[in-house]
Amino acid sequence: MPDRDHGDIFSEEYSKPFLPPDHFKRKALVKDDTPYKEAADDKLAYWAGMAENIDWMKKWDQVLDDSNHPYYKWFVNGKLNVSANCLDRHIENGLGDKKAILFEGEEGDSVSLTYNELLKEVNKFCNVLQDMGVNKGDAVTIWMPMIPEAVVAMLACTRVGALHSVVFGGFSPEALKDRILDSNSKILVTADGAYRRGKVIQMKGAAEEELKECPSLEKVIMVERTNAAHQPQEERDFLWSNLMADAADDFSPVEMDAEDPLFILYSSGTTGKPKGILHTTGGYLVGVNTTFRYVFDYKDEDIFWCTADIGWITGHSYIVYGPLSGGSTIFIYEGTPDYPGKNRFWELIEKYKITVFYTAPTAIRSFMRWGNQFPEKHDLSSLRLLGTVGEPINPEVWIWYHENIGKKNCPIVDTWWQTETGMIMITPLPGVTATKPGSATKPFPGIDADVVDDEGKSTEPGQRGFLVIKSPWPAMLRTLYEDPERYEQTYWNQYQGIYFTGDGAWKDKDGYFWIMGRVDDVLNVSGHRIGTMEVESALVDHKSVTEAAVIGKVHEIKGHAITAFVTLKEGIEGSEELVDELKKHVGKRIGAIARPEEIFFTYELPKTRSGKIMRRLLRDIAENRDLGDVTTLMDPEVVKSIKDDYSDN
Ligand code: WT7
Repeated sequence: MPDRDHGDIFSEEYSKPFLPPDHFKRKALVKDDTPYKEAADDKLAYWAGMAENIDWMKKWDQVLDDSNHPYYKWFVNGKLNVSANCLDRHIENGLGDKKAILFEGEEGDSVSLTYNELLKEVNKFCNVLQDMGVNKGDAVTIWMPMIPEAVVAMLACTRVGALHSVVFGGFSPEALKDRILDSNSKILVTADGAYRRGKVIQMKGAAEEELKECPSLEKVIMVERTNAAHQPQEERDFLWSNLMADAADDFSPVEMDAEDPLFILYSSGTTGKPKGILHTTGGYLVGVNTTFRYVFDYKDEDIFWCTADIGWITGHSYIVYGPLSGGSTIFIYEGTPDYPGKNRFWELIEKYKITVFYTAPTAIRSFMRWGNQFPEKHDLSSLRLLGTVGEPINPEVWIWYHENIGKKNCPIVDTWWQTETGMIMITPLPGVTATKPGSATKPFPGIDADVVDDEGKSTEPGQRGFLVIKSPWPAMLRTLYEDPERYEQTYWNQYQGIYFTGDGAWKDKDGYFWIMGRVDDVLNVSGHRIGTMEVESALVDHKSVTEAAVIGKVHEIKGHAITAFVTLKEGIEGSEELVDELKKHVGKRIGAIARPEEIFFTYELPKTRSGKIMRRLLRDIAENRDLGDVTTLMDPEVVKSIKDDYSDN
């Protein structure tokens, strides 16, 4: 791919990289390339320096133990508590009355909590957890809407030393059950329901059957949010409000080892079973604290809004642990950007005077399609910095964001990272880096990212290859929960000693990284990772289906739209009703985000001689491209009939 010359797609004004505006640079936390130089000089000394920004109960003996690849240890023998770093130390530093959380619900209700108040809530919930017999190392599943109680529950887990597994509130009860079983959780923290686009979505009440099938589960704690129906089960189920009313509001943070598990977060991979990505305590906190402050140019007076759900890594790292360990004020919104009107986000930015806004390209593409009239109605002048994450951003969408939201006044940080990396890895530093729309620019100081070919050799500028990370970093995943074999195989077997990201990328002549998306069987739907195998397993699980192949068709707003090719059992005819039923079935197994947009019935699926489904070919069919080479196909006729079926639609 040639180096991008902005001149050929944009006007003269945009033909050069965007320099940080002077007014921004003058006040920036990082003004020059010192951190890059320091990290290049001595990476471990650099990270040791960053770790000084964390309060340790006992200092570490060694920055990195890399003797047992790929099981790295950071800040060896260091002791700390994450909640103490997110709460107590700010209060000790005189920030007790500073707002920690500003929350607005979909209905317009609001809550605000100072650091003092948040600590009290967290302490109360620690006492609740302790009374329920939660000990250090136990797992707690959190399946909640975007409400402050979710943050309280997460922080309380870290304070008592339990590891949390937050399951995205939009996942189905069956997906929840799989994750409770896999993590062996004793406790579930949930809500009766959530508000979504003016409707109440039942949560706990919808999961009663599944919860009965979770033998490890001892207690269920439910926040009453919506008055949605549920069936309380005596001795197992408790109301959050009752428990909190009786709980004491002090609790000493438990001393944790730097390498004690902090949380599990399930993420899609190339098999039907999601991976339990395990993060630990010390390195993760150093990583997210450093990147939060540097990438988002932390200022004491900031009101920081990351629009992700706490059920994703973005929510973990940049709603909760990065900003709160940095002493920032976070804004949390419960609802969607289009309800009750398509100006909802801009209205909130105006009302709460948001200064830093971090969202996903898929959302920006929707904003752009809805039109400028929505942001134009609102005063967005509080904004000083914008960010994106989750997928590549199209340069024209970047420009729209820059002009219509940033008013040409705010740098944009396009941040590349993954659930596995825990922290932002490739990103501009907004006071330093000249940005190019569509590029996540350069590795964060101390991060050895590169693009390599099949042999693991660095590619030449302009040459496509695989994105890898060549040396360990503090917030890296430590393993896959109870599945070290899959950990080694997924990330470390591709190249000797190098972390494989699963993304394709290229670098330009200035060393800027251009990420092209996944090279494995993982889709990116609206910035969320969905494994094709996961959706296929859900389809095959339906009584009428023999086989299924799922691909991502390029989609204007979502990035990928899920398209499924399905072969039915003998004697079963495809119909519109069956299409609907199968879509529902996938929604039930995984959640609405995984529902296929299109389903096509076919007699057979195209396969290689070794029996691997040729997804590339299906993708080409779905996108109506030329078929290319089909000589490795088992039965070329199969493709022909699929193509004919498809064109009929
Ligand atoms: C995958 C990770 C990390 C938070 C959100 C997603 C894609 C992420 C970018 C970006 C291009 C990006 C990659 C990556 N991705 N950010 N700025 N530019 N692609 O977390 O679900 O773990 O997905 O998202 O493909 O591998 P995730």
